Amino acid sequence: MKIAFVASEAFPFAKVGGLADVIGSLPQALKKQGLEPTIFLPWYWGIQGYYVGEAWFNFEGNREKIGIGHAEHNGVRYVLVGLGDFARDKPYGYQDDFRRFVRFAMATAELLGDFDVVHAHDWQAALLPLLRNLGWFQARTVYTIHNLAYQGVWGSQDFYAWTRLPGETYYGAGLEHHGAVNLMKAGIVNADAVTTVSPRYAWEITTPEGGEGLDGVLRAEQWKLRGILNGLDTDYWDPATDKYLRHHYNASDLSGKARNRAELLAELALEDRPTLGVVSRFAHQKGIDLIADAVDDLMGLGVNLVVLGSGEPGLERTFAWMASHLPGRLAYVQGYNEALAHRIYAGSDGFLMPSRFEPCGLAQLIAMRYGTPPIVRAVGGLLDTVKHWETGFMFDSMDAGGILHGVREFLKHPDRDLVARNAMQQDFSWEGPAREYVALYRQLLG
Ligand code: ADP
Ligand code: GLC
Repeated sequence: MKIAFVASEAFPFAKVGGLADVIGSLPQALKKQGLEPTIFLPWYWGIQGYYVGEAWFNFEGNREKIGIGHAEHNGVRYVLVGLGDFARDKPYGYQDDFRRFVRFAMATAELLGDFDVVHAHDWQAALLPLLRNLGWFQARTVYTIHNLAYQGVWGSQDFYAWTRLPGETYYGAGLEHHGAVNLMKAGIVNADAVTTVSPRYAWEITTPEGGEGLDGVLRAEQWKLRGILNGLDTDYWDPATDKYLRHHYNASDLSGKARNRAELLAELALEDRPTLGVVSRFAHQKGIDLIADAVDDLMGLGVNLVVLGSGEPGLERTFAWMASHLPGRLAYVQGYNEALAHRIYAGSDGFLMPSRFEPCGLAQLIAMRYGTPPIVRAVGGLLDTVKHWETGFMFDSMDAGGILHGVREFLKHPDRDLVARNAMQQDFSWEGPAREYVALYRQLLG
């Protein structure tokens, strides 16, 4: 069975968040189960690949060239879709993102001739199920929602001028939403099956509170919607072999964790106190502002914070300011830093993740695998993966008070090493989830 994954991120080629982890690891698990996966990724600046040829697609009434590259990672084949407007140093954050990813989807559609299933991810690839329905290629289509908060919304005039798609698709194929083109909606409406990344989130997005304006659409399409929990690349995320750690450890011997902890505290000049790690995008979703609200009280409870992340500039400034006023207690490192992320997962005593919503969340899975009990808000995939008091700690309230409650529970537990070992013994591999995807593909192919 030949499967094409189409997405905007894949670790290690391009990563902003968990989407990259999933696209960089699920296909390996599918391959182990006998499938032939290929990943279609924009050819961002700096990705090393072999130029293998070119193809053409129509855009804005012109014939445009696609440079095609090949790359490989852990035995999985990548097709790099080369378009001029992707030769930039980060995947998104540009004025023309909508247009760029419409071009990516249209160009990729030209390359999908011999696949059985096309599995498209998030808004950046959401046009593909519709293009299949218009006859651009033949495969069955699966559409996965990793985050309903980003939908790919733009004015219809531009959209139709660029794509030259038939105008009746606006209402007739689900592109229209509140007077604009909404790619996420079109993906949901046109795909043969829709999945999201945890069972709990699959339910939450059908409610007005969690539906980001698309809950009505998702309720109508609920018959083809299901949640499949994300897994982790358990070879890459493994405290027993992690190449970024000086001291390796496992559930039966946590002494290496203690050594990593001591080095992390020394590196960041932190006092020896219970230390909570945060590794996150600074986005509203993640509740980083709620941590800022809680900082004085957290200090009062006697914990340190070590925070790695970037995003909203106001939050970056707040954390830089707090770090300068709380030396020895709060360390903040701005930016994306793979190596430091590993050291924080391994060296912290607890991991704080007060998300407002969380489709699945990989950070808490990584923390558990590294024996660092996560303290999380009871929502979405966090609710599906963390067991309160057993593998981590959970709180309900979406404010500073909620965070403080969770941290008090953490401090109160009589045996945190036991929680750490329980967490490390959970199975967060892709094996089970990959089997669910294989079953879904088979079901679609009849
Ligand atoms: P999301 O995809 O919403 O950002 P996830 O928890 O699913 O959240 O995945 C986040 C991924 O990105 C994890 O692998 C996490 O370690 C990584 N990550 C987030 N911020 C940083 C950072 N500043 N530096 C390194 N890795 C980061
Ligand atoms: C999104 C979600 C996150 C999920 C990731 C991978 O970025 O915010 O919860 O783990 O996608 O599916």
